[in-house]
Amino acid sequence: MTFEPARERGRTPGRMRSAVLGVAAGAVAVSAFIALSGTADAASTLGASAGASGRYFGTAVAANKLSDATYVGILDREFTMVTPENEMKWDATEPNQDSFSYADADRIVSHATGIGARVRGHALAWHSQQPGWVQNLSGTALRSAMLNHVTQVATHYRGRIYAWDVVNEAFADGGSGARRDSNLQRTGNDWIEAAFRAARAADPTAKLCYNDYNTDGQNAKSNAVYAMVQDFKSRGVPIDCVGFQSHFNAQSPVPGDYQANLQRFANLGVEVQITELDIEGSGSTQADAFARVVQACLHVTACTGITVWGIRDTDSWRAGGTPLLFDGNGGKKAAYTSVLNTLDGGGTSNPPSSSTPPPPSGAACTATFSTNAWSGGFVTTVKVTAGSSALSSWSVGVTLPGGSAVTSAWNAQGTGTSGAVQFANVSYNARVAAGGSTEFGFQGTGSAPSAAPTCTVSLT
Ligand code: XIL
Repeated sequence: MTFEPARERGRTPGRMRSAVLGVAAGAVAVSAFIALSGTADAASTLGASAGASGRYFGTAVAANKLSDATYVGILDREFTMVTPENEMKWDATEPNQDSFSYADADRIVSHATGIGARVRGHALAWHSQQPGWVQNLSGTALRSAMLNHVTQVATHYRGRIYAWDVVNEAFADGGSGARRDSNLQRTGNDWIEAAFRAARAADPTAKLCYNDYNTDGQNAKSNAVYAMVQDFKSRGVPIDCVGFQSHFNAQSPVPGDYQANLQRFANLGVEVQITELDIEGSGSTQADAFARVVQACLHVTACTGITVWGIRDTDSWRAGGTPLLFDGNGGKKAAYTSVLNTLDGGGTSNPPSSSTPPPPSGAACTATFSTNAWSGGFVTTVKVTAGSSALSSWSVGVTLPGGSAVTSAWNAQGTGTSGAVQFANVSYNARVAAGGSTEFGFQGTGSAPSAAPTCTVSLT
């Protein structure tokens, strides 16, 4: 990892402990953290420090640990938001069709309420941790079961959830920008918006989030989520927040554009939340990476809070990577003190995000697509969105799989029918306002294109 937080902190050394950390390294840094945490930070907690800027600091909680005194002691002292780690998932809440079991989740919710913490609900619709009966469903039976599940669970917790992860992990990894293939996705591309609408109807008081991983920096996957959120906003599909899981390690470090990525989502008019933060590692490297994540959230006004995915390293779903803020004995790690110092403003100064607009995306236009495919044919809808300048004409390139052919198109003029096909605007949709969008579509035989279309333009 190539972080440079020590130098950043050094720019505004304001507090003595920051200056010390700015020059310390390795084992020296660890002992400096420990020595100082007992003095300067004695009165502060993660929740209180995050609360000073109106944010929450949360953790995932497992019901079976609520009898562990050390665990509960830290939970009650430090955290102001709670996410049930597994207890609200489909396999836990509806183990048999139409038979709901809320005991474990209810215990977590009532514990959270007892300590004045709020709750993030996780997760209503997800391809993973489905009960067996769901895994065996498909088509309209699965769609109905999913909508019933969303409605029942969101209704049970109505008024008690700050934000729901309505849909979790629905996009594919890699460069395709496509939806993840799953039984839910195979019920039709509109399953996500259907889930959000059902959640809103069941609990109008909860914020509704889309949550995913590998979307923490700008990449094909986060671009696809971005396009979906933009589309939902433009069509009035209810969505209030986007969750960034933020599971990091040496192979998947905190991206350099983490803050910019949070900001571009915020600019769509949604809250952004860091929902499952953990960073494998140890010592000052780990502490610095945590500081960068916290700093990024503090710099984005719409970043309303941070949740770590467990309390002690030994509580983690990937305990071997020691990715959390407390060691197995419940002791504060260097990462803890780093997070606390950053929340307390011990790092760089914290300009309001309104004064630091993100750089323009660079793209004059973007094209996103959705496809309805059946055996032997498909319909693809493409949305062309202008960047920060208006368009006077546009053209979109699509690569068809071998053996596929376009048979008709609407709202665009096609050139070629197989291989690399080009679609140009027609007269009535040539002009697209800055930030605006227009749609066209085409039908074909064979299998649908899977790669994201490319968009080229003339600017006005
Ligand atoms: C994990 C839990 O931490 C584990 O206990 C469980 O065995 C598997 O799921 N993304 C998510 C979380 O959205 O629900 C996952 O939680 C971690 C990855």
